[in-house]
Amino acid sequence: MFTGLLHTHKLVVVLFLLIYLVKTALLLANKTDTLERFKKIIRIPEMIVSTLFLLTGAVMLFQLPQIHIYMWIKIAAVFASIPLAVVGFKRSNKALATLSFVLLLVSYGLAEMSRNAPVQELAAGVVTDATQSGYDIQLHGKAVYDANCVVCHGEDGALGAAGAKNLAVSQLSAEEAVQIITNGKNAMPKYKKALSEQDIKAVAAYIGTLKK
Ligand code: HEC
Repeated sequence: MFTGLLHTHKLVVVLFLLIYLVKTALLLANKTDTLERFKKIIRIPEMIVSTLFLLTGAVMLFQLPQIHIYMWIKIAAVFASIPLAVVGFKRSNKALATLSFVLLLVSYGLAEMSRNAPVQELAAGVVTDATQSGYDIQLHGKAVYDANCVVCHGEDGALGAAGAKNLAVSQLSAEEAVQIITNGKNAMPKYKKALSEQDIKAVAAYIGTLKK
């Protein structure tokens, strides 16, 4: 359900950006007649696309267990671009219309950036250096899991928030899990930046113990 929403959201966002790209380009090129014709043709599809855009975004927002700072900035940029676009196209004001389009592009970039998981502090006293004596990969992995993954996957791996897969029934090998943790997938954030390779190896080993 969440993943379906995410795909729909991405699709309508791309359609929305395309519509605005055409409108802005026509305005900047002084193609007033073509712009008026395009606005008429696109009016209904644009209403549908923008409604779906905001609706899918809002529904997903309410299901997210935590909201990334980039996500807030993105939402602010989207909401700032709407009145700018309305006024910009009504008054054929190129500066406002362009600013609105740039804000939309920035929002798109921020959405990509918010796919990077934020850095979380591990519980105190956990040995994370595999070369140090007393290193225990399971303890390390559990600390990484508790700090980063519980919000979506839950203590036992079965919480399923934000479309998270049930790790207790996951068929993935540790190597495949490392891939997904590193690079993310759909609503699963990527941990390439937030975690070290050893952190990821450890947490992949730990989630193996959640399997039933
Ligand atoms: C924001 C919520 C969220 C967080 C936080 C999160 N995940 Fe996920 N995880 C997901 C979603 C959503 C999926 C399903 C991705 C897909 O569509 O296949 C997933 C899938 C996975 C999978 C693949 C399971 C399978 O069988 O396909 C693994 C492994 C995994 N997560 C591990 C982790 C680990 C380890 C962490 C912490 C470092 C973590 N996740 C943090 C949401 C999250």
